[in-house]
Amino acid sequence: MKPLLIGPFTQLLPMTGLPLKGALKDEQLPIIENGAILVHEGKILKVGTFEDLKSEDADIHQIQGDAVCLPGFVDSHTHICFAGTRARDYAFRNAGKTYLEIAKAGGGIWDTVTQTRKASEEALVQGIVSRSKKHLKNGITTIEVKSGYGLSVDEELKMLRAIKKANATVSATLVPTCLAAHMKPKDWNQDKAYLDEIINTLFPIIKSENLAQRVDAFVEESAFSPEEIKPYFQKAKDMGFDITVHADQFTIGGSQVAVDFGAVSADHLEASTEKEIQLLAKSNTIATALPGASLGLGCAYTPARKILDAGGALSIASDHNPGSAPMGDLLTQASILGTFEKLSNTEVLAGITFRAAAALRMADRGKLASGTWADFVVFPTNNYQVITYHQGQLKPSQVWKKGEPIHQND
Ligand code: NIG
Ligand code: FE
Repeated sequence: MKPLLIGPFTQLLPMTGLPLKGALKDEQLPIIENGAILVHEGKILKVGTFEDLKSEDADIHQIQGDAVCLPGFVDSHTHICFAGTRARDYAFRNAGKTYLEIAKAGGGIWDTVTQTRKASEEALVQGIVSRSKKHLKNGITTIEVKSGYGLSVDEELKMLRAIKKANATVSATLVPTCLAAHMKPKDWNQDKAYLDEIINTLFPIIKSENLAQRVDAFVEESAFSPEEIKPYFQKAKDMGFDITVHADQFTIGGSQVAVDFGAVSADHLEASTEKEIQLLAKSNTIATALPGASLGLGCAYTPARKILDAGGALSIASDHNPGSAPMGDLLTQASILGTFEKLSNTEVLAGITFRAAAALRMADRGKLASGTWADFVVFPTNNYQVITYHQGQLKPSQVWKKGEPIHQND
């Protein structure tokens, strides 16, 4: 089969040549006018102007009208494997009820654990598939998906197997993460015994069935303390898992754990102070903002501006989950974070492309360059600034995954 030349795009934003860390100005953003992509076997051979690439021996897929092309978006933090709803929690929160009052009324993470345990593996697969399809239409071609609503060896396995099955049926790439330390399970009276069981029984099965390469924990007063979580992360690290941490959401402590364990990312950070910001900025750990959780809980945003100005790397993810972040619309949330935190378009777009891919340790996506997957999203406009300006309401006209058009809206 001949390579395929796709273009011309009014503006093509390859998201290449930009640093992984630190602030980014829009003047730094590379834009190829009348750009095109040459694709072969799902991967990009060349990126350039349509005029230059026209001479290649290739079939041509002509793009009509205004079109801005970007790398497929990467959502580096979600909990889209779940059953049930937490609409009641949301109403309670907005009525001024406290976290403790909601938990006492049967709400909180444990409510979703109960509902997810009741669901069959197949029902979980269906839920992930339908949420992934919605994400794909919005241009998100790689989606991290956590377990964490099982909280026993068998139930965590059910979730991770469901993620694996869903991955085989959807066009998006799903990246599984084991979040067995999401909260202390209420049906264990000894927290240490639970973590021992996870370490000794669950981790080896995850390895042998190749169910995940990443391990996460919620380090927080209401979940696991930095001290309690150490053996869990130590074992995960010894076994070769990548580490990622729910850190500094309400109280600090998690980002120190993340840096100490060389985590690929520290996510949330709404409570991070200058000290944590400096710590993260000096490390190789990517800071992940989750504006969907701030919007869902009515809490402060992650100090994204300060993190970038201190020299940190910033990914922006949806945290889509039934409790704190029910909206699940990454582009809307990233655009809104930009307005509140005064982020340039380039910083917002970097946060959902190559910097998000780096948070998943994936160098083969998040930018459009020779050798990366031909995952890209096309918006019906002639000016990239319109994308964040419409705060998620401008929908992609096309989404391509591994060189195939998987969504068309024109
Ligand atoms: O990332 N903070 C902990 N975990 C999730 C919330 C999960 C839930 O409420 O169900 C989060 O926001
Ligand atoms: Fe989360």
